[in-house]
This record gives sequence, structure tokens and C-alpha cells, in this order.
Amino acid sequence: MTGRHHAIAGDEISQPPQMVRVWDGPTRLFHWLLVASVTIAMLTGFLAPEWWMGTHLFAGYAIVLLLAFRLVWGVFGSEYARLINLARSTRYLGAYVRGLALLRPPHYVGHNPVGALMIFAFFGVFLGLVATGLMVQAGEEKQGPLAGIVSYAVGHAAKQVHEILAFAALAMIAVHIAGVLVESWLQNVNLTRGMIDGRMPRPRGFRIPTPRAAHPLAAGVVMLLIASLSSATLYGLSRMPPLGIPMIQESAIYRSECGACHWSFHPSLLPRASWAEMLTGLSEHFGEDASLPDDKRADIARHLETYAAENWDTEAANRLRAVSPTDPTRITKTPFWIAKHRRIDPATYRTAAVKSESNCTACHRDAETGRFDDQAIDVPVLSK
Ligand code: HEC
Ligand code: HEC
Repeated sequence: MTGRHHAIAGDEISQPPQMVRVWDGPTRLFHWLLVASVTIAMLTGFLAPEWWMGTHLFAGYAIVLLLAFRLVWGVFGSEYARLINLARSTRYLGAYVRGLALLRPPHYVGHNPVGALMIFAFFGVFLGLVATGLMVQAGEEKQGPLAGIVSYAVGHAAKQVHEILAFAALAMIAVHIAGVLVESWLQNVNLTRGMIDGRMPRPRGFRIPTPRAAHPLAAGVVMLLIASLSSATLYGLSRMPPLGIPMIQESAIYRSECGACHWSFHPSLLPRASWAEMLTGLSEHFGEDASLPDDKRADIARHLETYAAENWDTEAANRLRAVSPTDPTRITKTPFWIAKHRRIDPATYRTAAVKSESNCTACHRDAETGRFDDQAIDVPVLSK
């Protein structure tokens, strides 16, 4: 074997091996912090209810930082951390797989070719998860750095990809762990311990090229550069107004007339046709007479038409455009509203604090803005 290819033929492993330092400190720290972040992201993503979203996002941002660090360390880190060496070692994939089929894979110091390929696959999947995650957050929730440029439709599509990638990541983690166990067994070394103390066995008599040292200073400078560039970009992006949330010109008439018996519903909660239909039947408005003089009604019609669901890109406005065929003027009869509130005990709506399903402001602190963020939900506790 020549050059910087660290393979050793299987039959050379006869004498007790000598340990060599392979994984440098930053690479090991990266590995275990990534394990922790990915575990938290997986648990909160697959299992936790919506209000854990904050923790999920936090784990996602930690993953971005870790990946950015690892890419830089992949250039300036020490020998076995270098991505170029990993890329080169995939040339020996065929030989490695043939060896593996005979249960005698060549012994590698550092990543074997399949392991190296796996690292790149992990990079791709994690970057894809982070990118689609940011798009879901921006498009569906109108939050995060991309909120000014991603539409609900794009965010919603990104969610499907995010979910597929999450299952792919789960499968890859299983393959990775199985690979480490099989390889540890075939080579008779504890590879997991190697990722803790940084050492791997080198069979006696086999020489490996002097490992290239890390350049922590250069890595630090490049990371600072990336950090300042990306914070400047993020700052610029976050100053953009969220896409599809128009500046609303308040209407005093709408507020006083349609807010007399209940809160003045946010106009984005029903489509134009539903508002128009409601305004033609105000004398029989859900059992009440809510009739208005023509001029006021025209003003209110203009207001509701201007800010109806069609003119917003929030999740609520997008989903509430599909109204109930039998009750098109009821927000609380739309399939989306029913689906989102099915887990709430109906007795909650009869409490003094809530009074009615349509009293959205009792549970949604941000109902007046039409956003209906997950973080702004507060259901009054049932006193029994
Ligand atoms: C005289 C009192 C009164 C006035 C004025 C009034 N409403 Fe209502 N409105 C009601 C009642 C009562 C209900 C049924 C509430 C319930 O079931 O909890 C209702 C229900 C609604 C709903 C359906 C909520 C749901 O359950 O999905 C909408 C939308 C609505 N009103 C809009 C308006 C608009 C727009 C105006 C102004 C043009 C208006 N209301 C004026 C009494 C009134
Ligand atoms: C008794 C409290 C309560 C009332 C009243 C209520 N909601 Fe909700 N709403 C909730 C809860 C809790 C959730 C979260 C359900 C979940 O995710 O399991 C929710 C979820 C939602 C969501 C989805 C938010 C998201 O990002 O996933 C929308 C939109 C919404 N409600 C709109 C409304 C509207 C419009 C009204 C009034 C017509 C209303 N709600 C009345 C408690 C309430």
C-alpha cells in the first residue's frame, strides 16, 4: 500500500496491535455533540407535541453550527478529519466491499471507504433536513430567517421532504451503528471507544505516513469569517417582512359593529365568498339580528374583502379557504379548524373564560394578528 491510503491487508493483523492517535479532540467533540443534537431533534420531531417545536428548532440550529464547524475542520483539521482523505478513500470501495463479503475486510486506520461514504451521505441528509426545516418554519409558521421569501405552499411541500429525509436519517443511523458493531467484531477492536479516546490499533510492523497536523488558527479565522458573513446575511433576511402578511389598515366601523357581540374576527379567517354571504344575511346572523345600514355594511364589506383569506399566506388563511359546504360562514365548521381542535375537551368551551368555540382570543394570544403561532397558545385550565 502506498501514499496516504491507510489500508492494511487483513492477514497482517496477527500480533497485538499498537495504538495510534487517529481522531483529534475537535472531531470527537463534534461527533458526540452531533449525536446529542440529532437525538434531541429526532425525539422532539417524531414524538413530542407541537409546543416542543422550540426545542426542535434549537437542536436544528445546533446541527447547522456543528456541520459548518465540521466542514471547516474537514479542511484544516488533522489527517483523519480531512474530507479530502475521506473522498480519496472511497476509491477503494470495491476492494473493501469484496473483503467484507469474505468477512475479511482490509483493516483501516481512520474511516474505511464505506464509512467515508457514509459521512458524506450524513452531510447531505443533515444539510437537507436543516434546509427543509428552515423552509417549513418560514413557509408554514412565517418565522425564522427565511420567512420573508418562502411561501406557505413551498413550506408545506418542504415539510413532506423534511419528513422523508428524517426517516432516511433514522435508517442511516441504524446502518451506521450496525456498521460500527460489525466492523468492531470483524477487526476485534472497539471502534466506539476510539471515538472517545481518539485511538485506533495499528498492527505492528505496519507503517503509516506521518499524519498531517491540524491548523487550528486558520480554522478559527475561517470560522469567524463564515460566522460574520452568515450573521450579516441572516440579519438582512430577518429584517424582511414575512411573506404574505399584509399591513392591515384597521377599520373602526368593523371593530365596533362586528365586535359588539364577539371579538371582531380577523378577516383572514374566511374567504371572500363566505364574508359576502354573511353580509347578505345579517338580519339572521346565527340567531341574532345583526343588521346594519347600507353605508356601514359597504365599508365593512370592503374591509373584509381586502383582507380575506385569499390575500394572506399564513397557515390559517391557507387552510381556512376550504370552508364547510353546509356551513360556509362558520370558521369553527371548517375541516381544518375541526382537525386542529379535536383533542380539546368540549367542556373547555363552556367555561367562563372561553364561553364559545368562536372565542379564539381566549386561547390564542395572537389571534388579533391572524398568525396563530404555536408558541402563542394558552388554553385556560379546566377547574373541576
Ligand atoms: C348582535 C350580536 C352580533 C353581531 C352584531 C355580530 N355577530 Fe357575529 N355572531 C354572533 C353570534 C351569537 C354568533 C354565534 C357564536 C357562537 O356560536 O359561539 C356569531 C358568529 C359569527 C361568526 C362565526 C364564528 C364561528 O363559530 O365560526 C362569524 C365569522 C361572525 N359572527 C362574524 C360577524 C361579523 C363579520 C359581524 C359584523 C358584520 C358580526 N359577526 C356581528 C353575534 C353577532
Ligand atoms: C379552548 C381553546 C381554543 C379556542 C377557543 C380556539 N383554539 Fe385554536 N387551538 C387551540 C389549541 C390548543 C391548538 C393546538 C392544537 C394542537 O396542535 O394539538 C389550536 C390550534 C389552532 C390553529 C393551528 C395552529 C398551528 O400553527 O398549528 C389554528 C389556525 C387555530 N387554532 C385557530 C383558531 C381559531 C380561528 C379559533 C376561533 C374560531 C380558535 N382557534 C379557537 C385552542 C383553541
